[in-house]
Amino acid sequence: MKRGAPQDTGTPDTRAWILHPDITSERRPREAALALEEAVSLAAALPGLEVAGAEVVRLPRAHPGMLFGSGKIAELKERFQGAAAELVLIDGPVTPVQQRNLEKAWGVKLLDRTGLILEIFSDRAATREGVLQVEMAALSYQRTRLVRAWTHLERQRGGLGFVGGPGETQIEADRRAIDEQLVRLRRQLGKVVKTRDLHRAARAKVPYPIVALVGYTNAGKSTLFNRLTGAEVMAKDMLFATLDPTMRAVTLPNGPEVILSDTVGFISDLPTSLVAAFRATLEEVLAADLILHVRDISHPETEAQAGDVATILAELGVDETKPMLEVWNKLDRLDPEARETATTQAARLDQTHLVSAITGAGMDPLLDAIKDQLAAGTSTETLHLTFDQGRARAWLFDQGVVEEESQIDEGFTVSVRWTKKQASQFKDVL
Ligand code: GTP
Repeated sequence: MKRGAPQDTGTPDTRAWILHPDITSERRPREAALALEEAVSLAAALPGLEVAGAEVVRLPRAHPGMLFGSGKIAELKERFQGAAAELVLIDGPVTPVQQRNLEKAWGVKLLDRTGLILEIFSDRAATREGVLQVEMAALSYQRTRLVRAWTHLERQRGGLGFVGGPGETQIEADRRAIDEQLVRLRRQLGKVVKTRDLHRAARAKVPYPIVALVGYTNAGKSTLFNRLTGAEVMAKDMLFATLDPTMRAVTLPNGPEVILSDTVGFISDLPTSLVAAFRATLEEVLAADLILHVRDISHPETEAQAGDVATILAELGVDETKPMLEVWNKLDRLDPEARETATTQAARLDQTHLVSAITGAGMDPLLDAIKDQLAAGTSTETLHLTFDQGRARAWLFDQGVVEEESQIDEGFTVSVRWTKKQASQFKDVL
């Protein structure tokens, strides 16, 4: 796996063919064509990879040894050769046995969905914690594959009755090596998490509220982030462009100072073993004072995507009392009729705003709603401070809660807008 290596422009891109197996015997909640489209976007997020072709392969059921039937395998082989494809990405689970057989039959390298997502994670992880989590996920993945290969070997040998061949020893040794590596990684990760908690504690002292952008992959979070901050964060048509937390302290155009946090895009069917590799980013959401759930309202599966996001947030422990705004993005992509329907719907729903992060439409009402939400948990008060309470006065300014101040004979009159927590902290400062 590449790890944060600079992109090598000297070597030609690897030509990849993407297959989405549409197995009719399995209940598939998502439309195959859309799933394929998403897989293509996932693949396109990998540098050094060129998508040579992509297709949905319908099959009544998965063949245990080869996944596809022999006719289909031959047909696909011709297509791969014609396109000079060296890598085949299968958007679904592939057993180690199927992988080995297909690689041999087609003369290509093969990656399944988990393998692909791991590649993307490893390419995107920038923080130490992100890298460690990806390494752990990759090792656990390899380990299951060894276990599965082992089961397969054992089954093959089943009737012969001998125990412990060279294969078994090798696999056990590999597994042990992986386990030791996992223990080491876990220990390191523990240290990193501790450091990160310290950073978070330090940030908690920052007087600005944290606003976190969450949403399904490709919903437009980075684009909205840029519009809100003017910052240059990667905003390509790339999935997972933001695996690591991107946080900026910014003054929103309508006044409030906030820390804006961009998070990694959510995705459906994420193998559970990979969910941990998300946490570095997603945990930031727990610390947020306000969540902006960005949705691509022009996507045909926008409802299902919103459902996935809600599930992941709940799993993370974000409770319903956390202030949240829904941002229905890509308004510009709706035809006039759909736009009208969406406008009516959004107006009827509480805390829902229709915008276009690209054109800037709908930004002012959204900014006002953010401001209102942040102010909802605060109250105003007028304080009288004497000249010798300079430390308390400095603290108020440090916290950024002073709205107005005037000097009087015996000291200062200070109007503040603060949270309950700040009000009680102030008593200790006095
Ligand atoms: P991940 O990092 O994968 O989670 O994506 P993201 O949610 O950060 O999405 P990003 O901002 O990278 O946008 C994805 C694609 O949608 C890009 O091609 C954007 O140009 C496009 N996009 C974002 N907002 C809008 C919008 O309001 N209208 C239109 N037409 N396209 C948009």
